[in-house]
Amino acid sequence: MSYLQNLDLAVQSWYPLGGRGYNLEMMNDPLIKDLAIKYQKSPAQIILRFNIERKVIVIPGSKDRDHLRANLDIFDFGFNAEELKLLAGLDRHEKHDWY
Ligand SMILES: NC(=O)c1ccc[n+]([C@@H]2O[C@H](COP(=O)([O-])OP(=O)(O)OC[C@H]3O[C@@H](n4cnc5c(N)ncnc54)[C@H](OP(=O)(O)O)[C@@H]3O)[C@@H](O)[C@H]2O)c1
Repeated sequence: MSYLQNLDLAVQSWYPLGGRGYNLEMMNDPLIKDLAIKYQKSPAQIILRFNIERKVIVIPGSKDRDHLRANLDIFDFGFNAEELKLLAGLDRHEKHDWY
């Protein structure tokens, strides 16, 4: 990702919340849940904020009006360096789609 960003290319998160039917695993991660409690946000907001902080575009999909509102309410908090490192450590280096 940093390779692309260093070339001034924008990176977008594809399925930022894990995709339809697949987001429970991400939202139930213990670190995500702990940060949600600390910052009084939902797990989805923690995930979206993490991507914004590392300059990754997120376009979460939702049919739920409350979720749509919550997904925009991520600009009043931020993670410290240690938390960013822990969140980055969740990367499992898995590739889920082929293009
Ligand atoms: N062009 C394409 O062919 C294509 C294909 C796939 C993906 N994409 C990209 O992926 C984006 C989103 O794809 P996606 O909607 O499949 O995956 P996603 O955004 O990763 O996940 C959507 C799921 O998350 C749930 N959700 C959303 N906000 C939530 C919240 N605040 N709390 C709890 N659950 C929440 C939604 O349920 P609710 O409806 O209940 O909120 C839905 O089940 C697209 O906008 C696009 O950028 C594009």
